[in-house]
Amino acid sequence: MQVIITANASAAAAHAADIVERTLAELEAPVFGLATGSTPVALYQALIERHRHQGLSFAKLTTFNLDEYVGLPPEHPQSYRHFMQRELFDHVDIEPANTFLPDGMSDPLEAGNAYEALIEGHGGIDLQVLGIGRNGHIGFNEPTSSLGSRTRVKTLTRDTLEANARFFAPQEFQPSLALTMGIATILEARSILLIATGEAKAEAVARCVEGPLSALVPASALQLHPKVTVIVDQTAAGRLE
Ligand code: F6R
Repeated sequence: MQVIITANASAAAAHAADIVERTLAELEAPVFGLATGSTPVALYQALIERHRHQGLSFAKLTTFNLDEYVGLPPEHPQSYRHFMQRELFDHVDIEPANTFLPDGMSDPLEAGNAYEALIEGHGGIDLQVLGIGRNGHIGFNEPTSSLGSRTRVKTLTRDTLEANARFFAPQEFQPSLALTMGIATILEARSILLIATGEAKAEAVARCVEGPLSALVPASALQLHPKVTVIVDQTAAGRLE
């Protein structure tokens, strides 16, 4: 695991964008795993900037997002499909048909296997971008998720629901179920890039990088992977030894 500590969140995003750009250049038909949430937004903005001003192209890229809410249609403003369109896809030259998210409106019991088959059919993921929850979750693999888990439905914890409530209007339906890649699915990516910024993530980062391997901290499973880069700003690095 390589840990890179940057001065601030925008330097973390720039560093992550460098890795994305390099991987795009290296591969004939790159397949990326992408995350939503507030952390990768700065990375996506950096990539949009590079597309607009430096000709960075996403034309040969295929993407698979980590997760999607169960019960939210793609056009719902809080769906992760909508998020990805708004924050990245609508602003770059990616082929819309090459962008995939778990289908939150299909039979949740079948959607997981279907998504796994789709990833496998594209030859697996070359670079998986991850954020981390305050409780150490990755994707929506909440604490106690099996380290061998695959794409499936998960019930979100109260902590995660509270953290995400800021995105929903007070009376709005907030889903408590999500489809998420499993921990084993994530570990099959050929390389992983985890980004964490802000003091609220410091404890989770320390437990991910230096804590014991435990299903109580799903991100600690990344210690098993041979090619993980963790990019943290100084505040998120604050509890590292
Ligand atoms: C979202 C995802 C989640 C987030 C995590 C951190 O696709 O996979 O694991 O990465 O909840 O969210 P933010 O970045 O909003 O703190």
